Amino acid sequence: MRSLNISIVGATGVVGAKLIKLLEVSPVPVNRLRLLASRNSAGRQVRFRDEICFVEALDEIGDLETDIAFLCAGSAVSLEWAPRFAAQGAMVIDNSNAFRMDPDVPLVVPQINPSVLSHRPRPGIVANPNCTTIQLARALRPLVTALDVHQIILATYQAASGVGLMGIDELRNGTRAALEGSSGPPAARFPVPLQFNVIPQVGEIDLEGVALEERKLVQEARKILAMPDLRLTSTCVRVPVENGHSEAVYIEFEKPVCLQQVHELLAQEEGVRLYADGIREGYPTPRFLTNPADVHVARVRVNPENPRGLWLWVVADNLQVGAALNALLIAQLAIANRVIGK
Ligand SMILES: NC(=O)c1ccc[n+]([C@@H]2O[C@H](COP(=O)([O-])OP(=O)(O)OC[C@H]3O[C@@H](n4cnc5c(N)ncnc54)[C@H](OP(=O)(O)O)[C@@H]3O)[C@@H](O)[C@H]2O)c1
Repeated sequence: MRSLNISIVGATGVVGAKLIKLLEVSPVPVNRLRLLASRNSAGRQVRFRDEICFVEALDEIGDLETDIAFLCAGSAVSLEWAPRFAAQGAMVIDNSNAFRMDPDVPLVVPQINPSVLSHRPRPGIVANPNCTTIQLARALRPLVTALDVHQIILATYQAASGVGLMGIDELRNGTRAALEGSSGPPAARFPVPLQFNVIPQVGEIDLEGVALEERKLVQEARKILAMPDLRLTSTCVRVPVENGHSEAVYIEFEKPVCLQQVHELLAQEEGVRLYADGIREGYPTPRFLTNPADVHVARVRVNPENPRGLWLWVVADNLQVGAALNALLIAQLAIANRVIGK
């Protein structure tokens, strides 16, 4: 196939930077890589495959022609620029929340629903799901495919990097200030200071008392797994971890569940690392994840009080599994399906 022209909007953010690193070592043939961000970052240099690329200001570029446009700069930028890139022939892979629930836009996790990308989507846009949903859906897929689920209840423990570079900075600076005995700057990216704290809110809380992240989890999981009636509810919590989201997931099945069958199903799942023996193998924690390209599943146990109930502890790198790697795998799937680069 021919080499591709690729644009990354939001190249200076945490997702954009991770995507550049993954693209660099991927088999994707790149003719021209265009790095775009706000005017504040114009002129910054980034090394890519032995070349130096200069970051350009998105609103100052004239021509938008590119084969793939990865958008990693938030919903407002995506709403304005995704249709413009698509109108110039690009396939847009959007990391934001802007188009995920649009019925014409496929919401893709390549390990779960690759067939939805067998043809070019009508708007020219493919949506990358929310980070919390991707790791959950990937751990659930083998179980909900083989066994009848009654309901799923989970709590998330989400890292500061989930709100981008400024979230990481706020946690670091706030922690330093607190250790030095000062209150530090007021919270900006979080509702209250995150350092030495946990916050039971991720995203705006609506009139029904449900936070945006909790809405996204159920809507997106239903779309990706093609289970429109899936009963799923969550409490999403921000924790003072720099990177890596964790989830305590309780699945209630329609019938008693067999632990050995669960182990077998999870062990066979591509990209899922199962810690089957809790005593010998321990469990993953977000700070010490060994393979950040995998979804890590541990503490797998049947509820002693209810033989239909199963607990899982699910950990993944939100920047990689939950964003940049999934976006890159979408591009590779589209290339393999000849949706791009014909
Ligand atoms: N962080 C995660 O775990 C995660 C997971 C899944 C999806 N996402 C999504 O990925 C996207 C990026 O998130 P992030 O965490 O990487 O955020 P981030 O670290 O704050 O980076 C934001 C990027 O967007 C650029 N940007 C902001 N306003 C812009 C504008 N008006 N025009 C052009 N570029 C602009 C910034 O450029 P400057 O540096 O020049 O300001 C920066 O490169 C968001 O849509 C987010 O919802 C994030």
